[in-house]
Amino acid sequence: MYEQISHSLLNDILNQIRPEISKQDLRHFYTRLGGNFYVIHSLFERLYGNRPDFHHQLQRLVEIMARNYINRPEELKQLDLDREKDYNWFLSQQWVGMALYCDRFANDLQGLRKHLNYLQELGINLVHIMPIMRCPEGSSDGGYAVSDFRDIDPHVGTLDVLHELANEMRKNDSLLVLDIVLNHTSNEHKWAQLARSGDPFYQDYYYTFETRNMPDTFEQNMPEIFPETAPGNFTWDEEMGRWVMTVFHDYQWDLNYTNPSVFIEMLDIILYWANQGADILRLDAVAFLWKKIGSSCQNEEEAHIILQLLKDCGQVTAPGVLFIAEAIVAPMEMVKYFGEDTIIAKECEIAYNATFMALMWDAVATKSAKLLNQGIKSLPAKLDRATWLNYIRCHDDIGLGFDDADIVMAGYEPSSHRKFLIDYFLGKYNDSHARGIPFGINEETGDARISGTLASLVGLQYAQETGDEQASDDAIKIILLLHSLILSFGGIPLLYYGDEIGTINDLSYLKDPHKADDSRWAHRPKIDWGKAERRHTEGTVEYAIFNALKRMIAVSKEIDVFADYNNRRLFEVNNFHLFVYARYDLKDRDKMVLVVANLDGKPQSLNLKDVALWPDSQYHRLIDLYTGQKPDIFKDTLVVPGFGYYWLSLI
Ligand code: GLC
Repeated sequence: MYEQISHSLLNDILNQIRPEISKQDLRHFYTRLGGNFYVIHSLFERLYGNRPDFHHQLQRLVEIMARNYINRPEELKQLDLDREKDYNWFLSQQWVGMALYCDRFANDLQGLRKHLNYLQELGINLVHIMPIMRCPEGSSDGGYAVSDFRDIDPHVGTLDVLHELANEMRKNDSLLVLDIVLNHTSNEHKWAQLARSGDPFYQDYYYTFETRNMPDTFEQNMPEIFPETAPGNFTWDEEMGRWVMTVFHDYQWDLNYTNPSVFIEMLDIILYWANQGADILRLDAVAFLWKKIGSSCQNEEEAHIILQLLKDCGQVTAPGVLFIAEAIVAPMEMVKYFGEDTIIAKECEIAYNATFMALMWDAVATKSAKLLNQGIKSLPAKLDRATWLNYIRCHDDIGLGFDDADIVMAGYEPSSHRKFLIDYFLGKYNDSHARGIPFGINEETGDARISGTLASLVGLQYAQETGDEQASDDAIKIILLLHSLILSFGGIPLLYYGDEIGTINDLSYLKDPHKADDSRWAHRPKIDWGKAERRHTEGTVEYAIFNALKRMIAVSKEIDVFADYNNRRLFEVNNFHLFVYARYDLKDRDKMVLVVANLDGKPQSLNLKDVALWPDSQYHRLIDLYTGQKPDIFKDTLVVPGFGYYWLSLI
């Protein structure tokens, strides 16, 4: 948008821009900067307008964008142009992702290169490599305590190998996702060390305080993220002689975004990784970016302004690169990380659908879709040009992050229902085969979360311990059922490494003093490639899961109506064991697929008249796209096998 104040300011900035920058061919850069500058200026002013150095900082911001544009490899610049044309490219059902730890999946980046064919065999074409930037040994929170944002952890490899990997993936039309830990640094980061040594410039990169007054005031409204292992939100640093804000662990220092230098540093880092070949950047813990006394210091308006600014600046330099919001917050808050607009994502194009994830786990425990339906109905519609990341498990714990109001609407009492779910996944009931491990128990609030792999949570570990074959069959069916949902729901399905071969909890973390108090390591397994080989041997668990998923992924990629265009209709049917929705073509509503998932172990029936999608004369034409077989239909009644699912369409 053209606006005179910002436009004349931009002219001044461009006149002053350093000669080595202005000599370059910046044609596309300038058109994009012109398009976004009004917003960039307004938002930057909202955050930093009252500072005497505002203009100087704005000049630096533009220079950082320009420098990174100049450094952007030609191939990536071309990709930017292609993606600008094909702007809905990421809404396609063709993308199927997997999140993995490079070292635990394949030792290092070289190993990952060698195993790319394994991922391709399964149909994965988007790989989220969990954080690989340099971290201290030990106190690293699984890579989320970064000590150097511009280098790769030597244990996993070098930048050169990452480039080779990125190039190889690009050749195979696969997407690379990397993490940017925006909210904090390790206490061993150079900035933290300079702050410690007394440098006020770098102390201003963090929230540090001489006395307990400020920390005590903040604490009145701030929840604890890791109450058992890292209680409180501040840590006394002996060397600095000051308190420092540490919302996560005591070695993760929160960055101070009221300081424009921090914003500019982090933008520079984002653009740096975009230029290393990342297609998508996962922005970690974005809900925490702005701290305000008297608030929970989560989901603040300014956190959204920071993300919008990052997006607006990112679009100028590397518009083909997308952001994923990792904001595991209440459903109403979660959607705001797409940015508030009517059509396009103004903050992050993609966000973790933590609500759907938690609701699916409720459905597993209750064998009912009551809360799942209710929770999905309450989840505000997402923007047209934004999409969810749908996942069953990830490297973190499962938090029951749905709304109490929805629990009530589904007919339960919130606190007893939450307690039931925790106890269910800890395997405290006779009919529960789950082998979950508690995480983040908060004695004061009664809150608790769950760790454990998918296979262990749905009973495969129990089945292996007891030799119960029925339990093993059921667990495999539930694993596939849940994947049938993330693959058809709309959004990018993100599998979690190890789940494709039924990996159970790995308790070896208990022997490592740096990990023993963090049960999330139980579901961050080291891949056993011998076990993975069994995917080729009929009759094994690995064969059953891997090959079914492989087929499911291949079939889902062929189903155009699975692309994410807000083209889903949810049905609340008479049988609460069934979760039912249709995915349809916006232009031709007759083109549709009905997804019917049975959350119960016994066969369940659905009267097709309840969904009223087809005249009964057409039922004989229905086919399940996954198996290619006709479903069981008796007159008007469709029968879905125990823990079974259909992707139904007319042929
Ligand atoms: C994110 C990560 C989690 C980490 C936290 C702090 O939530 O997913 O693993 O502990 O951020 O960086």
